[in-house]
Amino acid sequence: MAEDPDAIENLLQESRVFPPLPDFTAQANVADSSIYDEAEQDLEGFWARHAETFHWFKKWDKVLDWQLPFAQWFVGGTTNLSYNCLDRHVENGGGDKVAYHWVGEPGDTRSITYAELLSEVCQAANGLKELGIEKGDRVAIYSPMVLETVIAMLACARIGAPFTVVFAGFSADSLADRIHDSGAKLLLTADGSNRRGSVFPLKPQADEALKSCPTVERQLVVRRGGNEVDWDEQRDVWWHDLIPRQSDTCPAEELDAEHMLYLLYTSGTTAKPKGIKHTTGGYMVGTAMTHKWVFDVKPDDVYWCAADVGWVTGHSYIVFGPLANHTTGLMYEGTPDFPDKDRWWSIVEEYGVSILYCAPTAIRTFMKWGDEYPGSHDLSSLRLLGTVGEPINPEAWIWYRKVIGSDKTPIVDTWWQTETGMIMISPLPGVTVTKPGSATRPLPGVSADVVDKNGVSVPRGHGGYLVIKKPWPAMLRGIYGNDERYKKTYWSEYEGIYFAGDGAKRDEDGYIWVLGRVDDVMNVSGHRISTAEIESALVGHPSVAESAVVGRSDATTGQAIAAFVVLRAGVKGDENLLAQLREKVSEDIGRFAKPKSIVFTEDLPKTRSGKIMRRLLRDISEHRQLGDVTTLANAPIVAEILERSTESSGEDD
Ligand code: WTA
Repeated sequence: MAEDPDAIENLLQESRVFPPLPDFTAQANVADSSIYDEAEQDLEGFWARHAETFHWFKKWDKVLDWQLPFAQWFVGGTTNLSYNCLDRHVENGGGDKVAYHWVGEPGDTRSITYAELLSEVCQAANGLKELGIEKGDRVAIYSPMVLETVIAMLACARIGAPFTVVFAGFSADSLADRIHDSGAKLLLTADGSNRRGSVFPLKPQADEALKSCPTVERQLVVRRGGNEVDWDEQRDVWWHDLIPRQSDTCPAEELDAEHMLYLLYTSGTTAKPKGIKHTTGGYMVGTAMTHKWVFDVKPDDVYWCAADVGWVTGHSYIVFGPLANHTTGLMYEGTPDFPDKDRWWSIVEEYGVSILYCAPTAIRTFMKWGDEYPGSHDLSSLRLLGTVGEPINPEAWIWYRKVIGSDKTPIVDTWWQTETGMIMISPLPGVTVTKPGSATRPLPGVSADVVDKNGVSVPRGHGGYLVIKKPWPAMLRGIYGNDERYKKTYWSEYEGIYFAGDGAKRDEDGYIWVLGRVDDVMNVSGHRISTAEIESALVGHPSVAESAVVGRSDATTGQAIAAFVVLRAGVKGDENLLAQLREKVSEDIGRFAKPKSIVFTEDLPKTRSGKIMRRLLRDISEHRQLGDVTTLANAPIVAEILERSTESSGEDD
């Protein structure tokens, strides 16, 4: 553990409270707190009762098998998530309901019903089979916010082919790493996507990645950007040539509850991303129930989760949770400032969006742009707002509620992780008195806690580490192909409890305030990036001898990446090299990981045992008073770095 969260600056001066409005509570899916007691009394029975509301081909024999740290839920049961998201609703007469209103950035739109989605998912599943994909084969998906991405995820789930979605902002190298690790047999991509008024080419990146991916036999390509692309006749096939000619029936495969649904790679504390493994039955129950409770979803809601489908939020709360609940969702392809900074608000108005779920970074950006953009639209359809991905500062929370939520909508600040699969700590909007900046308390059936170094629950008013004490249905089942790393990362800090890697505080009322990572993982605009990944990209440049990367606070993106670079002898650090280093990170990882500032220095501050003092670098980056530096082996370097940091930090957006 890198830090003592009790030492983390106490930002909890917030005293405002927002009780749920009686009108809201009266209509809420969860209207009183008895659900917490119910879960407390009989955890397994609680989840089993909810599991019964889904379709199972065969019911489970045992709710939970817990061989620490490996859980199995609904053991012996068989089901299919695609069936539960689609067929079940169509069979119940809900086929005409819109599953998604999709909005393309240039202005083209499509609304697809549950019945249509089911047909297209079946066609895609048959198309995958024609390309040789069978149950158990892995499929990589590197495609933009188009309906085909969702259709492909559901098609894979239908035939039992685990998929791994790689966010389209990742570079060819990152994509290749994920394909190597997952051993994917097929890659789904698009020619390009629309971003801020231009076409962003994707297939060239995918082609580049595939040069080193012998496991991938075929590449299925969606036409979206219309940009020219190279074509490999043996390997590549257009979606529009293959899928529409397939039969639109494809029986959903009867899958074991523990059948692998997907892998999603996330940054850890080393340079190698971890393949987080999720399975079918427990994930279905966990995501759907939390979606219903936290977002209070009703049949006539229009629900917009504005995350990218490439991150876990997209998996659980754009695709599987909402579809399992027969929700009408909204998906938008592009950036919030195209053609102008009111794009989101014009979409909310046009479609009557009633629930909006997004990241604090987006909220802070809108705040910066000014109230006139939301102000020029009718946002009265909104009745609930949510946030996820990083701590939200009270100021942004209040702005969100006032300016977007007409000063009346509840806000659900939801804490969870790629690993948890489902929301773990969040208000229930009809029940919980909220406080701006606090995720409040664990959901029913979730035993999250804040503990000290010894694993003992901290008293009210104290800080500690966020942990989860009992298994939950959507929990990760491991790190793909690396049980040792799974045990070491999550289960070795404390005996028998899950270590989340976040610092948190419990206030005088028992509310949890998540403060952010306590390990070497940064959170930039809600994206997890490890310092080690960026350091390894930087030292991969021939001019760089050593580097240290820290996350420093940033008013908009939460954290910003600050790099300190020691150059090889004789190399001069100039603007040109700065640009090259940024480009190197963009190529190795993705454009969203480019450092915001890079400082060239003769040396890095180190302890006598040679460990880089990151805390000190963070203090320097945040212009904080520096503590004692006498334990350093090379104390004079600090003054030099300080000087260089103020002189030229090579800032670049
Ligand atoms: C952070 C995103 C404060 C946290 C769903 C966690 C949050 C990491 C919140 C997981 C929140 C997520 N308040 N911090 N409401 N939600 N985080 O895997 O540091 O991309 O460990 O999952 O985001 O990020 P991931």
